[in-house]
Amino acid sequence: MSHAPHTIRTALVTGGNRGIGLEACRQLGRAGLDVVLAARDPERGRAAAERLTRQGLSVRFEQLDVTDGDSVRACAKRLDAAGVEVDALVNNAGVYPTEGFFSLAEETMRRAVDVNLMGAFHTCRAFVPGMVRRGRGRVVNVSSGLGAMTDNVPSPAAYGITKAALNALTLVVSAAAPPSVKVNAVCPGWVRTDMGGSWAPTSVEKGADTVTWLALLPDDGPSGGFFRDRRRIPW
Ligand SMILES: NC(=O)c1ccc[n+]([C@@H]2O[C@H](COP(=O)([O-])OP(=O)(O)OC[C@H]3O[C@@H](n4cnc5c(N)ncnc54)[C@H](OP(=O)(O)O)[C@@H]3O)[C@@H](O)[C@H]2O)c1
Repeated sequence: MSHAPHTIRTALVTGGNRGIGLEACRQLGRAGLDVVLAARDPERGRAAAERLTRQGLSVRFEQLDVTDGDSVRACAKRLDAAGVEVDALVNNAGVYPTEGFFSLAEETMRRAVDVNLMGAFHTCRAFVPGMVRRGRGRVVNVSSGLGAMTDNVPSPAAYGITKAALNALTLVVSAAAPPSVKVNAVCPGWVRTDMGGSWAPTSVEKGADTVTWLALLPDDGPSGGFFRDRRRIPW
């Protein structure tokens, strides 16, 4: 596991109550960071944060529905008022609709756009300006190789399109931010979570490893890249 550069002290993880998000909270906490475990459901989020706190980690819960810009801005305001400066933002919350293009309901497509793309749009707008002001920051967009356009058609339809768009957002925010704020995307692999299923080959620990690594990049680390297993992959 990487060691936190002294500049990155606090991380916020969306969808932190289960799966890769929960494991990223655990790994970042173990690396010595203060962790904001953000989740849309207060009961599930609080229970997850308490479990990590009992393991001796510094974790606080914040209610955050990434599809709701007001919810994201309210969370940022609460943290600001509490003096919590988010140095690393992990956009992990995601949904995985599996329908093909012709059987995809409009509502399903909209939902995927709202969670997988607009979620990161809202959080980047709420938290990256503070990173720019303070001259330190890391953004990790949890994407997927299924959104890559280099050697495959993004799929399944809604998932592939929204992860491809999340990759585009990664490049846009990276280009808009100064070099002190590093913005990258990651494919965690096919991971054993509720989304990935019990037959997936990759453990949740391994799946979260590159996420944690990117959140803790040193000051001379990359920005505007797409990574799997700590290595660059094509968009
Ligand atoms: N598992 C894989 O094989 C795999 C592969 C490639 C990429 N990924 C990506 O990795 C990320 C995490 O996946 P996972 O496997 O850990 O999935 P998961 O177990 O299904 O967890 C998804 C998380 O996203 C949260 N979420 C969904 N909608 C939300 C919203 N509107 N606001 C806030 N949180 C919301 C869920 O919260 P609730 O508990 O409240 O529903 C849950 O915490 C996703 O972005 C996924 O696309 C996963």
